[in-house]
Amino acid sequence: MNTVSDFNEIKNKVIIITGCSGNLGGEYARFLLESGATIFGIDRVEESTIIELKYKFKNNFYFFNGDITSKKSMLEALKACKENFKIDVLINNAAIDSPPNSTSNENCKFENFSLETWDKVMEVNLKGAFICSQVFGTEMSINNGGSIINISSIYGILSPDQSLYDYMKDDGIEFFKPIAYSVSKSGIMNMTRYLAVYWAKKNVRVNTLTIAGVENNQDPRFIRNYTNRIPIGKMANKKDYNGAILFLSTSASTYMTGSNLVIDGGWSSI
Ligand SMILES: NC(=O)c1ccc[n+]([C@@H]2O[C@H](COP(=O)([O-])OP(=O)(O)OC[C@H]3O[C@@H](n4cnc5c(N)ncnc54)[C@H](O)[C@@H]3O)[C@@H](O)[C@H]2O)c1
Repeated sequence: MNTVSDFNEIKNKVIIITGCSGNLGGEYARFLLESGATIFGIDRVEESTIIELKYKFKNNFYFFNGDITSKKSMLEALKACKENFKIDVLINNAAIDSPPNSTSNENCKFENFSLETWDKVMEVNLKGAFICSQVFGTEMSINNGGSIINISSIYGILSPDQSLYDYMKDDGIEFFKPIAYSVSKSGIMNMTRYLAVYWAKKNVRVNTLTIAGVENNQDPRFIRNYTNRIPIGKMANKKDYNGAILFLSTSASTYMTGSNLVIDGGWSSI
C-alpha cells in the first residue's frame, strides 16, 4: 500500500457476500456500496434489507436468491455474476446458529444434542463455505487474483462461556450454547489456511475474520452478562467490523493470507 487513498480501489471491486439478507451481511453490503463497490449479494431469503439496497443502489447492487449448500445453485450464481463482472472478493458470511430463543433440542445438554442439528449446522456453516470457495474461489484463481474472507466467531477459537446464559434458568429454561456452531467456526479457520496455501501462487488470498457478539435487541440480562465478560465493556455495534472488511478486501492487506484477524473487544485476551 502506497498511500491512504489506495483504499479508494474499493470502488472498482466486485464483492460477493453470502448471507446478505442478514444483520451483518446487509451491513457489509451497505458499507461497501456506499464506498462505491459493486455487490453481488446471495441469500436463500430476500428480506427487506435487500429490497432497500436494490432501491438505493440500482446500479451496483445485485441479488441472487440461492442456497449456499447447493453447488448447482452457486454455479448458477457464478454464471449470473460472470456475465457482467470479474469477481474480486468473496465474503463467506452466511451461517446458522442456535440462538437462546431456538427450540430446546437445538440448545440442550451436549449428551442429548441431536445429530440432525449437528448435520444442519455443518451443512450450512462448513459445506456452504466450502462450496462457495470452490465455485467462486476457483474463478478467482483462473483470473489470477482475489480475496476470500471467511467469517468466524470467538466461539470458534474458544469455548462458549456457558455462564452467560445462566439467567435463563430464572425463567425455568435449561440452555446450553451448543457444540455444533463452535466446531463449525473452528473448521472455517483451517479451511482458510488450506486454501491460502493452495491458492497462494494464484494470487488468491484467504483469511479469517473472527468477530464477537453484536448487540441486537437481545435479552437485557444477556447483554449485561456479555458486557461484563468483555474488557472493552460493550457488545459490538454491527458497524465495528466494516474497517476490517475494507482492509481484507483491498491491497492494504496484500501480504496477508492464511491469517485470522480477531476483533472481539478483548474477549480472547482474558
Ligand atoms: N451477530 C453476531 O453476534 C455474530 C458473532 C460472531 C460471529 N458471527 C458470524 O457473522 C456471520 C453473520 O451473522 P449474522 O448475525 O448477520 O447472522 P444472520 O442470521 O443475521 O444472517 C445470516 C444469513 O445467512 C443466510 N443463510 C443461512 N443459510 C443459508 C443458505 N443455506 N444459503 C444462503 N443463505 C443462507 C440467512 O438467510 C441469513 O440472512 C455468521 O457467519 C455468524 O456466524 C455473528
